[in-house]
Amino acid sequence: MKLENKVVIVTGAVGGIGGEIVKRFVAEGARVLAVDLDQAKVEALADTYGEQVLGVATDVTEYAQVEAMVEKAVDHFGTLDVIVNNAGIGTPKMLLDHDPVDDFDIVTGVNQKGVYHGILAAGRKLRDLGKPGAILNTSSVYGQMASEMTFTYNVSKAAVDMMTKCAALELAPHNIRVCAVAPGRVDTPLLRQYEALGLWDHIRREQMRSTFTQPAEIAAVFAFLASDDANCINGTTVCAEDGFVNFKYPLLPEE
Ligand SMILES: NC(=O)c1ccc[n+]([C@@H]2O[C@H](COP(=O)([O-])OP(=O)(O)OC[C@H]3O[C@@H](n4cnc5c(N)ncnc54)[C@H](O)[C@@H]3O)[C@@H](O)[C@H]2O)c1
Repeated sequence: MKLENKVVIVTGAVGGIGGEIVKRFVAEGARVLAVDLDQAKVEALADTYGEQVLGVATDVTEYAQVEAMVEKAVDHFGTLDVIVNNAGIGTPKMLLDHDPVDDFDIVTGVNQKGVYHGILAAGRKLRDLGKPGAILNTSSVYGQMASEMTFTYNVSKAAVDMMTKCAALELAPHNIRVCAVAPGRVDTPLLRQYEALGLWDHIRREQMRSTFTQPAEIAAVFAFLASDDANCINGTTVCAEDGFVNFKYPLLPEE
């Protein structure tokens, strides 16, 4: 098993992608601190796995909570090897409809500052433990391109890509790798918001293979990056977007 004896923190663990990361990492032998906003939900998730998973409520927008989350992983499992900063939010909204008081800060607070908090708290702990580690961040293909209704989301994910590079450079002397994964469109509650907008079939047709990526496929990429097999991959964002950035709308009608 690729992740045997590794202790891993996964944020956004109750969500579509996070839930599959927990499942895959457990199957690969890891012990996992599963983290999300709601204590009852993370506990219910952990209960389905037994002793290999502990559920802890943490709001990643609060540094003190993120620091406590990292301490909890070490207290409970004895060490830390990997963190997956995966929690993220986004609500489709046109830029000119933004509430300038809230809209920017709410999204960047989770997607950007939340990842920053995870990098900082886990980076400090891994340094203090004096062992190699991996910090993995969930970015998005939208960090590399413009799209309508997702202004703050794209800005925050571009920041994740840059934080990944800068952190990798500064943490390299401690033998800590920092990488990100940029999914395209993954069938989770986050993406299903487009269903309510009547855009589900439209965005499905924008996919090169007319289908969405499954959360388990993204979890498989994270499992590889968390493993020692990925030792030469550092400071980069791995595209897991099924070709989306290199593809333009289909011109021809569907057969
Ligand atoms: N679904 C997609 O198409 C897609 C594409 C690219 C990137 N992503 C990214 O993947 C990650 C996971 O998204 P998902 O699609 O599984 O969405 P999801 O909504 O199913 O899961 C997100 C989880 O994050 C949690 N969360 C939100 N705010 C939090 C906070 N402040 N502290 C802790 N947890 C918090 C939520 O409770 C939820 O369980 C996100 O970073 C998202 O931006 C998703």
